[in-house]
Amino acid sequence: MIRRGQRAGTSVVALLIVTCCICLPVTAAEDDRYPGWSDSPIPDGPVGEAIASGWRILAHTQENAPAYAGNALNCTSCHLNGGRTPWAAPWVGVWGVFPEYRSRNAKVNALQDRINDCFRRSLNGRPLPFESREMIGILAYMQWLSREVPTGKNVPGRGFLRIKSEQPPDQARGAQVYARKCTLCHGDAGQGSFAASGEIIYPPLWGPKSFNIGAGMARLNTAAAFVKANMPFGQGGSLSDQEAFDVAAFFTRQPRPDFAGKLEDWPKGGKPDDARY
Ligand code: HEC
Ligand code: HEC
Repeated sequence: MIRRGQRAGTSVVALLIVTCCICLPVTAAEDDRYPGWSDSPIPDGPVGEAIASGWRILAHTQENAPAYAGNALNCTSCHLNGGRTPWAAPWVGVWGVFPEYRSRNAKVNALQDRINDCFRRSLNGRPLPFESREMIGILAYMQWLSREVPTGKNVPGRGFLRIKSEQPPDQARGAQVYARKCTLCHGDAGQGSFAASGEIIYPPLWGPKSFNIGAGMARLNTAAAFVKANMPFGQGGSLSDQEAFDVAAFFTRQPRPDFAGKLEDWPKGGKPDDARY
């Protein structure tokens, strides 16, 4: 748990694992302009308290927003290092790029809508009321990370890398990549691992405690791009693009919760080829 004046730090797991140099196309000069990328002390005062409460929800979602989280993941299981990792859909800069039109619901979405999308899909849970204490805390944290990023500017490393596979992705080859490079942490049945307290050590990749079929991570291209840049944890960039696609074809297609709202997605078309439904 963090207190005011302390740092919104990396997860315990992240601290335990040696992080290698990741050679991805984000220039240090551009990075340095935005203080949100680095670990800095949360300010004092009521806004600082809201920022800290937002961080607690994002990094320990079950414990701090149990009414809304439907699985075992934390928001930071994918938005790595508290949303400060380029090419892991960082939250640095998100404050100034919403509202944004999204073809998935064919509407202009507020940042609150986008946050709730991940609650409903990635966390297989329920949306937060816009005016709730939890939502205000999350917004305060994201605004704080986005300080000094100009309004409307996409930061370098927003979203995910774009990668292409040379051959069609192959689930059987992906199962082999999984066995060699992923089982160690995520388990041979994708179940992840948990401390006796219930706290995640390694998050589940499929099964009832993982993200549902409506989540961005259930899409082949998104999952491949996330894995290429960030996995195995601490060794981002070490898999070939083909290995990243093959392993993504394998784990995205494993059994996971259904998403009841799927029939309402892409009401005006634009459904991507790699959607699970
Ligand atoms: C299983 C992985 C996963 C988890 C867990 C997750 N997200 Fe996401 N999130 C994504 C993906 C993937 C995207 C991008 C989706 C896309 O490109 O359509 C995203 C996008 C976002 C964005 C928009 C980023 C941008 O640049 O537009 C926000 C904000 C966000 N998530 C908030 C959250 C919150 C809050 C939680 C916890 C309730 C959460 N996410 C949990 C995978 C995840
Ligand atoms: C050394 C341990 C380790 C290895 C090996 C590893 N991961 Fe991860 N993975 C993690 C950790 C830790 C997180 C969550 C990071 C956090 O919470 O800060 C994670 C998160 C993820 C996520 C997003 C969260 C979720 O549950 O969906 C995906 C997807 C993922 N890993 C896929 C893979 C794949 C595919 C491989 C093999 C190529 C792999 N990982 C290898 C430790 C590992």
